[in-house]
Amino acid sequence: MPSTSPEQLKICLEIATEAALAAGAVLQGYLGNLDAIHEKGRPGDLVTAADKASEEVVLEVLHRHFPSHSILAEESGKLGNIQSEYLWAIDPLDGTTNFAHQYPFFAVSIGLLIAGVPQVGVIFDPFHEELFRAAKGLGATCNRRSIQVSQTTELSKSLLVTGFAYDRRETTDNNYAEFCHLTHLTQGVRRSGSAALDLAHVACGRLDGYWERGIAPWDIAAGVVLLEEAGGKVTAYDSSPLNIESGRILATNGYIHASLSNELQVPALSVWGNNRNITT
Ligand code: IPD
Ligand code: CA
Ligand code: CA
Repeated sequence: MPSTSPEQLKICLEIATEAALAAGAVLQGYLGNLDAIHEKGRPGDLVTAADKASEEVVLEVLHRHFPSHSILAEESGKLGNIQSEYLWAIDPLDGTTNFAHQYPFFAVSIGLLIAGVPQVGVIFDPFHEELFRAAKGLGATCNRRSIQVSQTTELSKSLLVTGFAYDRRETTDNNYAEFCHLTHLTQGVRRSGSAALDLAHVACGRLDGYWERGIAPWDIAAGVVLLEEAGGKVTAYDSSPLNIESGRILATNGYIHASLSNELQVPALSVWGNNRNITT
């Protein structure tokens, strides 16, 4: 891994903050003022003018400050110098479905991976004016105040969150079985519609754990740094090291990690897969 000093990480954090705040202002301007909402391919996978305008703002700021870095942005794909060990993973609007319905739970998420390791993360929720920031070794904050994960140690006392990917109608590996199973074992499982905010809320102790399949690097890169710096744990479902491109993540306060990992080993509910055939 190239050695990046704390000072360099701080600069990256400041620039990511500048980009996230500017993009958040763009999103707020579009909220309730969308002319058109399109499906990207799969039913329910939406894209709006707000996603694109927000992404443009983030790209402009990052290009201006880091012309030699590489970028992976949800709407534009891979950009810039693919040789670079610095990769910015950007979700310009995480929670598009919420946004399109004016349900106020969405965010801009900007993460920086250095040699594949998430090291800087900024998540901005413009509606609630909450700015989550973290950099490796430098701690995690919400609106500049230090944050930490919860101290819940038992699943039966935990509040969890998860999500369902856009391919959920096409596969029995759609997280429905896990959702039902964990709903029985905990104080509740929320489905917020923004993976970035799910991670941010585990990081600041409002939630105790999060898992999801079918997730992309731009959804989680920033949140991974945030959660780790807030004292949490991020892995694959089976507690092995996270591969950010694997599409699966398990993220908790650390205390309930092993229990949640064990409980995620449930067989799929085939009745809710693609071949659903209920006639009553
Ligand atoms: C989605 C949200 C949602 C998660 C989906 C994501 P988008 O991102 O993070 O919470 O369940 O898997 O794709 O499409 O709103 O950017
Ligand atoms: Ca997303
Ligand atoms: Ca998005």
